[in-house]
Formats: sequence, C-alpha cells, structure tokens
Amino acid sequence: MRTWLNALLSLLFTFLLITTAGAATDSATCLSCHGSMEGAVNVNKEKYEKSVHGSFDCVMCHAAPKGDQHQGMGGAAPDKAVREFAAAIAPKGLKDTLAAAACAGCHPDKVEEYKGSIHGQNVIVKKSADGPVCTNCHGVPHYIEKRPSTASKVYLFNVVESCGKCHEEKHITEKYRFSPLVMERYKESFHGRKLKLGHSGAPSCANCHGSHAIVSAKDPKSPVGSVEAKKKTCGACHPGATEKFVAAITHKPLHPIAHFTEIGLILLTVGTFIFIITHVLLDIFADIRDRLFRKGGDHHE
Ligand code: HEC
Ligand code: HEC
Ligand code: HEC
Ligand code: HEC
Ligand code: HEC
Ligand code: HEC
Ligand code: HEC
Repeated sequence: MRTWLNALLSLLFTFLLITTAGAATDSATCLSCHGSMEGAVNVNKEKYEKSVHGSFDCVMCHAAPKGDQHQGMGGAAPDKAVREFAAAIAPKGLKDTLAAAACAGCHPDKVEEYKGSIHGQNVIVKKSADGPVCTNCHGVPHYIEKRPSTASKVYLFNVVESCGKCHEEKHITEKYRFSPLVMERYKESFHGRKLKLGHSGAPSCANCHGSHAIVSAKDPKSPVGSVEAKKKTCGACHPGATEKFVAAITHKPLHPIAHFTEIGLILLTVGTFIFIITHVLLDIFADIRDRLFRKGGDHHE
C-alpha cells in the first residue's frame, strides 16, 4: 500500500516537473542542432567548452527556449532574481531575455552594481535600448573567457574597443550630448597612445570610469566626479597627484609639445612665405631701379 502510494506520488511529481519546468536537456541535445546550424544560431562546441561557462548545460541560461522545435526542452524554472532582472531589461527587446538575465542567478553583485549605473538606469528606468546589458560589454556569452585571455572583451587591451562600440556611435553621442570627440581624444592622449603601444600600466576607460557602476562623470560618485575623487583615481598611478595635475586630463587633447610644434610649423611656413615674397619684391624693385638708372645714364651720356 505504502509503496503503491509512493510510486503514484513520484509519478505525479515527475509529471509536474515535466509540465511546469520542461524536461531537463543536456548540452549535447542542443548542440546536435545548434552545433551545425549557420549564422548567429550556431554554437561552436569547442569554443563553448573552452569558455568560463563551458561546463554548463545550455538550459541553465536558456530555461525556456521559444518555438516548436524546442518542445519538451528547457531547464528548471529560473529563480526570482532572474525573473525580476529579465523584466527589468525587457526594453532591450532581445530574443531570449531570460537567458540574458540568467547572469543574475550567479553574479548577483555585478547585477546590483549594474542596476544603479547610468547604463542600467538607461535600460531599466528610461526603458531605452541604447544602454548596454551584460552581453554588450562581455560579448557572446557562449565564448566568454577569463581575463587576461585576449579573447575576453574586457581584457585591458580590448576595453576601449568594447566601450567604443557605442561611444563612437554618432547617434549616441548626439542623443546624449556627449562631447563628440571623447573616443578620439582618449586615443590621441598619452594614455591612449601608451595603451595602444601595449603598455599595461596605462589606463583604459574602466580605470577612470569603473565598469559595472559607471555613473555620469558629473556625478560626485564617479571616480572622476570631483577633485578629491580624481586625486584618488589618478593618484593610483601618479602618486601625489595634486589639484592642478588632475585638472590636466579631460577628453581634451593634452599635447603641449605637439601643440607648440604645430604653432612652430605655422610660424615657419608664414615666415618662409614672407621671406620669399619680400625677396621677390626687393628683386623686382632692384631690377626696376637698375633699369631706370641705366636708362637714365644712357640718355645723359
Ligand atoms: C531539432 C533541432 C534543435 C534542437 C535540438 C534545439 N534547437 Fe534551438 N533552434 C532550432 C531552430 C531551427 C531555431 C530557429 C533558428 C532561426 O530562427 O533561424 C532555434 C532557435 C534557438 C534560439 C534562438 C532564439 C529564440 O528563442 O528564437 C535559442 C536561444 C535556442 N534555439 C536554444 C536552444 C537550446 C538551449 C536547445 C537545447 C535545450 C536547443 N535550442 C535545441 C533548432 C533546435
Ligand atoms: C551563460 C548563459 C548561457 C549559456 C550557458 C548558453 N547561452 Fe545561448 N545565449 C545566452 C544569451 C545571453 C544569449 C543572447 C540572448 C539574446 O540576445 O537574445 C544567447 C543566445 C543564444 C542563441 C541565439 C543566438 C541569436 O542571436 O539568435 C542560441 C541559438 C543559443 N544561445 C544556444 C545555446 C546553446 C546551444 C547553448 C549550450 C551549448 C547555450 N546557448 C548556452 C546565454 C547562454
Ligand atoms: C550558473 C551560474 C552562472 C551563470 C548563469 C552565469 N555565470 Fe558567469 N560565471 C560563472 C562561473 C562559475 C564563472 C567562473 C568563475 C571563476 O572561475 O572564477 C563565471 C565567469 C564569468 C566571467 C569571467 C570572469 C573573469 O574572471 O574574467 C564573466 C565575464 C561572466 N561569468 C559573465 C556572465 C554573464 C554576462 C552571464 C549572463 C549572460 C553569466 N556570466 C552567467 C557562473 C555563471
Ligand atoms: C559597461 C560595460 C560592462 C557591462 C554592462 C558589464 N560589465 Fe562586467 N566587466 C566589465 C569590465 C570592463 C570588466 C573588467 C574588470 C573591471 O574593470 O572591473 C568586467 C568584469 C566582469 C566580471 C569579472 C569580475 C572580476 O572580479 O574579475 C564578471 C563576472 C562580470 N563582469 C559580469 C558582468 C555581469 C553579470 C554583467 C551584467 C549585469 C556585466 N558584467 C555588465 C564591463 C562591463
Ligand atoms: C551598448 C552601448 C554602450 C556600451 C557598450 C557602453 N556604453 Fe557608456 N553609455 C551608453 C549610453 C546610451 C549612455 C547614456 C545613458 C544615459 O544618459 O541615459 C552611456 C553613458 C556613459 C557614461 C556617462 C557619461 C556622462 O558623463 O554623462 C560613461 C562615463 C560611460 N557611458 C562609459 C562607458 C564605458 C567606460 C564603457 C565600456 C566599459 C561603456 N560606457 C560602454 C551606451 C554604452
Ligand atoms: C592605470 C594608471 C593610470 C591612471 C589611473 C592615470 N594615469 Fe596618467 N599616465 C599613466 C601612464 C602609464 C602614463 C605614461 C607615462 C609615461 O609615458 O611616462 C601617464 C601619463 C600621464 C600624463 C602625461 C605625462 C606626465 O606624466 O605628465 C598626464 C598629464 C597624466 N597621465 C595625467 C593623469 C590624470 C590627470 C589622471 C586622472 C584623471 C591619470 N593620469 C590617470 C597611467 C595612469
Ligand atoms: C585618465 C582618465 C580617463 C580615461 C582613461 C577615460 N576617461 Fe572618460 N572622462 C574622464 C574625465 C575626467 C571626464 C569628465 C569630463 C571631461 O573633463 O572631459 C570624462 C568624461 C567622459 C564622458 C562624458 C563626456 C561628456 O561630454 O559628458 C564619457 C562618455 C566618457 N568619459 C567615456 C570614456 C570612454 C569611453 C573612455 C575610454 C575610451 C574614457 N572615457 C576614458 C576621464 C577619463
């Protein structure tokens, strides 16, 4: 009698599991199709397995893939944090918002920081699709590698490009009224040049602005939001940075030498022109005077 009841109960339980959460499916099942599909829906097995999340079943993020082809496939029902985050980032209009929000289940600290950032607020509060979600900075989630792998989109030498994807975009700089040359000025600064040359001590965007908790540069909470904050931020690499020193860096060009060289060149060019013109004029003058003198002489003699 007991065993009979137990069997019935466990059958009922299994039935409930299947209908509410879908059957648990392993990566091999998904890869049997997605491993050989073309385009964005392709998942490269080797690259996936090499990634930080490579040991996970796909359904740990894709708890409920849409479409008939996935009938009976899915994972455990996502926890509350994930569901809430999915609702929050819905304005991005992604294909699989639940998967994009799965990060909240395992990286809750990053998600909390992100929610308060200007980027998070852009999506969550302004309900805009302009701001980044996790995957906009970290790239395709299937192939995330740990720093300092050069495959990481947030590896020191890749950060500028990752931020630039948006901050170089005219429609973003214009819409949010950023000084249009932010990227250009960083790239031509001492810092940008040093980083490009492979100097690992040079700051990328994240050294001055942070990464997950980025706020407006005018916000006192920003690492560059006040003189005191800047003294600390710059001071990490320039010990004893003073008020005057920290004012030296904005996204404006900071090349006194280049600046003076340019002025020098202009002066030189203008100078040369004046010299040539004077020379020619004097020559002509001398010629005319000579001729007049000689003519006059001839006449009198
Ligand atoms: C029988 C083949 C097949 C299997 C098995 C399969 N898929 Fe798909 N999947 C497809 C097809 C077909 C599409 C639609 C492709 C398109 O739109 O171009 C798709 C689309 C997707 C998408 C695109 C986003 C969306 O929701 O529209 C996701 C995510 C996805 N699959 C995840 C999975 C996961 C996770 C598994 C394993 C649990 C899986 N798939 C197993 C065939 C399959
Ligand atoms: C760490 C979480 C995570 C894991 C694990 C994961 N994915 Fe994804 N996947 C995502 C996210 C996030 C997206 C992007 C969703 C979007 O932008 O709509 C995505 C997108 C996709 C897409 C759609 C791509 C497109 O642009 O149409 C497919 C197909 C897919 N994943 C299949 C898989 C398969 C198969 C596996 C297992 C081998 C897997 N995923 C494992 C998070 C994950
Ligand atoms: C099921 C849990 C889980 C989910 C879901 C998950 N991650 Fe991870 N993530 C991990 C683990 C575990 C590691 C490896 C940590 C380690 O080895 O130190 C990791 C590592 C990472 C790293 C690399 C950190 C480094 O050291 O450079 C990044 C970036 C990352 N995850 C981003 C994401 C993003 C973005 C999402 C959502 C699309 C996501 N993760 C979803 C568990 C998860
Ligand atoms: C604006 C770009 C940006 C966004 C959005 C972003 N990250 Fe990151 N993330 C970074 C950068 C840059 C780093 C490198 C470490 C650093 O400078 O803090 C990083 C590092 C990480 C790491 C490794 C942390 C460590 O301590 O080594 C994890 C995990 C991670 N991010 C997860 C996430 C998750 C989850 C989200 C979404 C809530 C997210 N990131 C959104 C830029 C971003
Ligand atoms: C997907 C696009 C996108 C990516 C990627 C992105 N940003 Fe942004 N960022 C924005 C948008 C949009 C805003 C304006 C948000 C608003 O005001 O509502 C913004 C605002 C900012 C601001 C505030 C500017 C101010 O003073 O008002 C800073 C600083 C910033 N981003 C730095 C970064 C850094 C550093 C990275 C890379 C680690 C990065 N962003 C990656 C889209 C992006
Ligand atoms: C992650 C480290 C780092 C941070 C943070 C940093 N710098 Fe630098 N900075 C460098 C390096 C490396 C150089 C190149 C030094 C060289 O070539 O001798 C440099 C060069 C400079 C130069 C030109 C050369 C000089 O020493 O006079 C100025 C000015 C400067 N930084 C100002 C700042 C200011 C202001 C801040 C804060 C807003 C700042 N830096 C933040 C690492 C950093
Ligand atoms: C050495 C420190 C430093 C680095 C590196 C740095 N910034 Fe800034 N950033 C600042 C300061 C200081 C401001 C405040 C406004 C100003 O003076 O230009 C600022 C302002 C901004 C703004 C707001 C501009 C506006 O017009 O309101 C954006 C956007 C921005 N930075 C993005 C970036 C991006 C993207 C990178 C990397 C390519 C980056 N920053 C690298 C120090 C830095």
